[in-house]
Amino acid sequence: SSVAAHKCPWTPPNHPNSFVDCDDFEMMKKCPYHAAHLMLWSRDEKPFSPYRLEEIPLPMQTKILMQVRFDGSFGFPGGFVDEVESNMPSTFPEFLSLLQQGVSRELFEEMNFGKDMRPSYVYSCYPTGKEEQVMLHFFMCQLSPAQMKAISWCSIISTSDEVVGLSLVPLFTLNDGRRGLPTFLTNSFAGNAVEQLLKSILTEGILSEEEVKKAYQVAFQLLQ
Ligand code: GTP
Ligand code: MN
Ligand code: MN
Ligand code: MN
Ligand code: MN
Ligand code: MN
Repeated sequence: SSVAAHKCPWTPPNHPNSFVDCDDFEMMKKCPYHAAHLMLWSRDEKPFSPYRLEEIPLPMQTKILMQVRFDGSFGFPGGFVDEVESNMPSTFPEFLSLLQQGVSRELFEEMNFGKDMRPSYVYSCYPTGKEEQVMLHFFMCQLSPAQMKAISWCSIISTSDEVVGLSLVPLFTLNDGRRGLPTFLTNSFAGNAVEQLLKSILTEGILSEEEVKKAYQVAFQLLQ
């Protein structure tokens, strides 16, 4: 199913200003700046048990990778795709192909991994009322559990100083109803990374809409 079918019915925490989904290439062409980010994730049949004191109802071990950025916020690997900014293609497929190359280049710069990756395009959006400034494009790439394990140390030795840490997203909520995903969502996120994260969790069926909504609501309360 497509992410467009899963419009976030709520404003994610830390982001009072919402983002508008965009599938209009004419509009994209007019935009001077384009950034593309990528969610690397994996799914394993292994049972999941991070914390022996509490049962966590998550049958499959799903890992979603996010990075701690130099500015202290969480985000996905990726960045500005200068390639399209300097030479905008005339067709959408060419444009997507350049974005795909750009996001792979950024992934390699930031994580020392994934040069030959062909991530799948998910959706684009722009900050409300700022469509003339920056368009944010989102990609996804599912890895095998072994690949996920192998890349976990790569960003530490990459030549880029933009990444100061890596994180897996906790996809569960512990018995107190706060620890786990709700607590994670109270962090600061770059751009609309939190929306990209939650939409992707819904699209891939990792959690139900009810679970995501609940985690968001608790996070919002924790932030008050
Ligand atoms: P340089 O390599 O130093 O040029 O930076 P970059 O190209 O890696 O750019 P960066 O990753 O900082 O992202 C560019 C823009 O996208 C910035 O305005 C960020 O606020 C925003 N941004 C950063 N991470 C994310 C993310 O995960 N999702 C979204 N939607 N936006 C992000
Ligand atoms: Mn332990
Ligand atoms: Mn970068
Ligand atoms: Mn970046
Ligand atoms: Mn860059
Ligand atoms: Mn850079």
